[in-house]
Amino acid sequence: MYTAEMRELIKKVESTRPQRIGVNFERMTPAEKEDVLRENHPDYKKENFRVLRVGKNKGQKVPLELANLIEANSRINNTQIDLSKINYDVDVLVIGGGGAGTSAALEAHNKGAKVLIATKLRFGDANTMMAEGGIQAADKPNDSPAQHYIDVMGGGHYTNIPELVNALVKDAPGVIKWLNDLGVMFDKEKDGTMITTHGGGTSRKRMHAAADYTGAEIMRVLRDEALNRGIEVIEFSPAIELLMDNEGKASGAILLNLETGEYVIVRAKTVIISTGGAGRLHYQGFPTSNHYGATADGIILGYRAGAELAFADTIQYHPTGVAYPSQIFGALVTEKVRSMGATPLNIHGEQFVYHLETRDVEASAIIRECLVKNNGIETPTGVKAVWLDTPLIDILHGEGTLEKRVPAMFRMYLKFGIDMRKEPILVYPTLHYQNGGLLIDENGQTKIKNLYVAGEASGGVHGRNRLMGNSLLDILVFGRRAGLHAGEESKSIDVKDLNIKHVSDYNKELLENGVVTERVSPMLLPHYTHGR
Ligand code: FUM
Repeated sequence: MYTAEMRELIKKVESTRPQRIGVNFERMTPAEKEDVLRENHPDYKKENFRVLRVGKNKGQKVPLELANLIEANSRINNTQIDLSKINYDVDVLVIGGGGAGTSAALEAHNKGAKVLIATKLRFGDANTMMAEGGIQAADKPNDSPAQHYIDVMGGGHYTNIPELVNALVKDAPGVIKWLNDLGVMFDKEKDGTMITTHGGGTSRKRMHAAADYTGAEIMRVLRDEALNRGIEVIEFSPAIELLMDNEGKASGAILLNLETGEYVIVRAKTVIISTGGAGRLHYQGFPTSNHYGATADGIILGYRAGAELAFADTIQYHPTGVAYPSQIFGALVTEKVRSMGATPLNIHGEQFVYHLETRDVEASAIIRECLVKNNGIETPTGVKAVWLDTPLIDILHGEGTLEKRVPAMFRMYLKFGIDMRKEPILVYPTLHYQNGGLLIDENGQTKIKNLYVAGEASGGVHGRNRLMGNSLLDILVFGRRAGLHAGEESKSIDVKDLNIKHVSDYNKELLENGVVTERVSPMLLPHYTHGR
């Protein structure tokens, strides 16, 4: 429910609406984009980053909160762990039960591998489940993987690793077919053609969606498939350290049973890290659209074992997080809302940015409007925000469109007495995604033998900025590739001795570089959940 002051301000939005309909707001020039990013994007706030003192990326900067976890003590320091007591002995250990992990498990299983999924929370509790707007794939006659490639590279400011982008866009149409065949209920026209829309920075309509719960729909189907095949899953058991063999190859992990506090030893021929993102680190004090388990665990495990980071200093702030009501502060307002024509407006009811700039540019323009130009609307909790003129959706596309295309969001707002069809909503950027992570190749392999990474924990695919819908795609492309490769490779691997020498080596390196701290990592759960 809006306050009386907000209702007054909404009248300005309504008064400018007739002149805005059908008028295209001018896009920024490359120079304007650079300017708005440099002056406003959180990645450019130097004081919120620091240089790593240890590990493969020593000397490179990452966000303070991540640096603190990277330069922290292992959870198993000062603990006697008997590595000869193997609880699980498998071909492929998948750490993480979201979309990347589950698709990896399915493909490894296709290769005949014995697979175990270990997941921190319940199977499927992951950012995949929360993905709303869609998944990109160039599968329409007016589109091509080459066109998709150019968009991805442009969105990432041409910093992306080309081979990874090539894999992403080439596999994309096959991924949509795979999902469709498995039973994902994509939005379709009456004749069965997939409905596709634009996202910020896309030159073709290639966003495939299942209303505004695309990730949940994909996860529903993948999880069913894994369970139907009898793939073993252990829940509430996060990995707290990798295990290596005496040649420094990844050979399993130590899990922590969150219910009993016991350690679980998994010996594995290959290990796939698919632990997702880091939104719950709340970089720079931002709220987040991420699920509770998004605490960068995979990055910590992999880095401590000697894997390399790529683009770990670049974070995605989704332009439109909920700013009001405060009960859902930071929740995602899918880009699909803008893709259907809703535009951002300032306190005067004026549009100040083209509604589908790439995310980093769009978010920066909103931050500038609120914090620099002082043209934001202040909420009762003191948050500055801009309007997103959602009633435009039904005006542009016909009555009923908004409710049909973003039903979950429509219902969410209605619970708070806000009817998005008739009233604009208040938004501000929310911490959404880590653009970087552990460096991988086209098969999801790191430079540590037998260690793979897939999905948001990996780095390189998106360069310094990801486009909408390329995350659901990324988790499936690289999840499947990692699963296939790990499954095949595991046929010729023979794991012998397990050890955790890399942990004591890392401790030594910390000490040698003057890092003395009480902190432990991986974090597992944000401090406000009072988890272990
Ligand atoms: O806006 C969204 O629906 C988010 C999509 C994404 O991050 O890919």
